[in-house]
Amino acid sequence: MFQYTCLNPIAAVGLDNLTEDYTKTEDFAQADAVLVRSAAMHDMELSDKLCAIARAGAGVNNIPLDKCAEKGIVVFNTPGANANGVKELLISGMLLAARDIVGGIDWVKANADDENISKSMEKAKKNFAGSELKGKKLGVIGLGAIGVLVANAANRLGMDVYGVDPFLSVKNALTLSRDITVCKSYDELYKTCDYITVHVPYMPETKGLLNKAASIR
Ligand SMILES: NC(=O)c1ccc[n+]([C@@H]2O[C@H](COP(=O)([O-])OP(=O)(O)OC[C@H]3O[C@@H](n4cnc5c(N)ncnc54)[C@H](O)[C@@H]3O)[C@@H](O)[C@H]2O)c1
Repeated sequence: MFQYTCLNPIAAVGLDNLTEDYTKTEDFAQADAVLVRSAAMHDMELSDKLCAIARAGAGVNNIPLDKCAEKGIVVFNTPGANANGVKELLISGMLLAARDIVGGIDWVKANADDENISKSMEKAKKNFAGSELKGKKLGVIGLGAIGVLVANAANRLGMDVYGVDPFLSVKNALTLSRDITVCKSYDELYKTCDYITVHVPYMPETKGLLNKAASIR
C-alpha cells in the first residue's frame, strides 16, 4: 500500500487511474508520492519516505531537482500534455494582435443603444482595421511539443515560419513541416520576423532570453 498527496488540485480523471494500492493523504511527510502542478517545492522538507514526484505539466522549475537527485527521488513530468491548448491560445493572441478586435467589441458595447448602429458602424469600423496573418513572418523560439504545433499551425494559416532550437530533437525535427525554415541564431529570427513566440523551459539559461537587444532590427 502506498500513500500519495496532491499539492495542487488534480483532476479526478487522472487520479482515477491510481489503483486500490494507493490511498490519498493530506500529510506531506507521510507521502510516498507527490502530484504537483505549480506549487513551489524548493523550500519544502523532503522526507526519506518520498519516492516520486509527478508534475502535471511540462516545466519542472518549481521542483528542487538537485535535492531530489541526491535523495534518489524520481521526478516525472508530462511534456506535451497541454501543448494543443497553448497552441490555440497563441493563435488567438496573434489574431487579437493583428486587428483591434477587442476595441471593436468595446465599441459595440458602448454603442448598443444607438438605433442607427449599422450606419455608425460603417464609419467607425476603419478604427479597428488591421492586417492578415497570411504572408506575415512568425519566429518560434523553442521547437518542442508546443513550438512544433505552433509552427505547423501558423504555416497552415499561410504564415512564413522560422524556428530556432539549439537542442532540436530528431522526433520534433521529423514532425516539423518542411516549409519551416530552421535558423541557426536568434538574431536571424529577430531580423526577419513580424511576430515572435517563445516556447522554452524557464531555466537560468533561458531567463531574459528575449531582451532589449532582441528588439533591434
Ligand atoms: N503557462 C502554461 O500554461 C504552459 C503550458 C505548457 C507549457 N508551458 C511552458 O512551455 C515550455 C515549453 O513546453 P513544451 O511542452 O513545448 O516543452 P518541450 O520540452 O517539449 O520543448 C521545449 C523546447 O525548448 C528547447 N530549448 C531549450 N532551451 C532552449 C533555448 N535556449 N533556445 C531555444 N530552444 C530551447 C528544447 O530543445 C525543446 O525542444 C515548458 O517548459 C513550460 O514551462 C507553459
